[in-house]
Amino acid sequence: MSREAAIYGKRRDMTVHGTEPFNAEPPRAALADRMLTPLEAFYCRNHGPVPAADAAAWRLTVDGLVARPSSWTLAGLRDRFAVHSETATLQCAGNRRAGLVEVRDIPGEAPWGPTATATARWTGVRLADVLDDAGADPAATDVAFLGTDVSEQATPPQEFGGSIPLRKARMPEVLLAWAMNGEPLAPVHGAPVRVVVPGYIGARSVKWVQRVTVADGPSENFFQASTYRLLPPDVDPATTGPGDGVPLGLVAVNSDFLAPDDGAEVPAGPTRVSGYAFAGGDRTVVRVDVSDDGGARWIQAELGEPASPWAWRHWSATVDVRPGAQEILARAWDSSAALQPADPASVWNPKGYVNNSWARLRLHGR
Ligand code: MTE
Repeated sequence: MSREAAIYGKRRDMTVHGTEPFNAEPPRAALADRMLTPLEAFYCRNHGPVPAADAAAWRLTVDGLVARPSSWTLAGLRDRFAVHSETATLQCAGNRRAGLVEVRDIPGEAPWGPTATATARWTGVRLADVLDDAGADPAATDVAFLGTDVSEQATPPQEFGGSIPLRKARMPEVLLAWAMNGEPLAPVHGAPVRVVVPGYIGARSVKWVQRVTVADGPSENFFQASTYRLLPPDVDPATTGPGDGVPLGLVAVNSDFLAPDDGAEVPAGPTRVSGYAFAGGDRTVVRVDVSDDGGARWIQAELGEPASPWAWRHWSATVDVRPGAQEILARAWDSSAALQPADPASVWNPKGYVNNSWARLRLHGR
């Protein structure tokens, strides 16, 4: 077990992609059939060292295109604004990258499996209320967030940051959160306060937030302008600069298996398989199909109720496992009628983002 997993309160069996910065995801079974993900199984995605949490010293600066620039303490935020909770799924843009690496190597990026995603009940204040209080200029277009963690992975090294459109920042689901599943935020998840932007890639939910800036364009932070962007397949990322490629924002419809484990040996015969599906944006998952014969025939999975419009849906189906090696497939539809694409090669990109190709589970029937 990694020392870091213990320090950050994570399960012993996390797959650790890196210890400094700490990046880890749980085994599939840890997420199966649970709407809320406990702290010990919540994936961690960091680009720098985890800052020491000091709630008493914490200050949030609100500036940029606002009539009244302001500075908040944690107690000040709690006293001034109504407290809200929202159940929301976070999903890293690199979730399921391992499936793209199988197509073609992606040097320098962690080969995340299907569990760089998790769901929590977040509690804090609405960003919209804080922006209203500051008198955000309605003609502004974006709201930028800045963390306190300095990433050496950035060029030049800088605090992690990013931005979202002002119209999203004004939506009631976007929170400045200090609690996760009813507990104060853990240091590794952004204590004392992080942004939670439901429906957007995890990178926009900036942890250890220290500054909120209303602006007339997207953030120029490295993690908005230069990475977390979809590059065409034939481009060498070493040759790209700020503004190249397509910025990632809304999560694309995706799904994967959570049980049984990939590569599991199971008794031949009817076998229950289950997983998650997440739509992203303000779309919802409307259907999940499963196939046990390579996609010739699909059966509709049973869909669990989501805890909120911003949360994943769990699903399950019974498939026929035959003796020997077999691949089970799953694919989800969202409310915009978007369907996951079949082939990971068709979505391969040089940084390995947004692998939302069909989920594939290898089973061995005995
Ligand atoms: N915020 C800061 N300050 N630093 C980071 O490295 N990583 C982002 C986002 N917010 C990051 C950050 C990414 S890429 C993701 S996917 C989520 O945090 C992961 O949140 P978690 O570690 O709480 O699961």
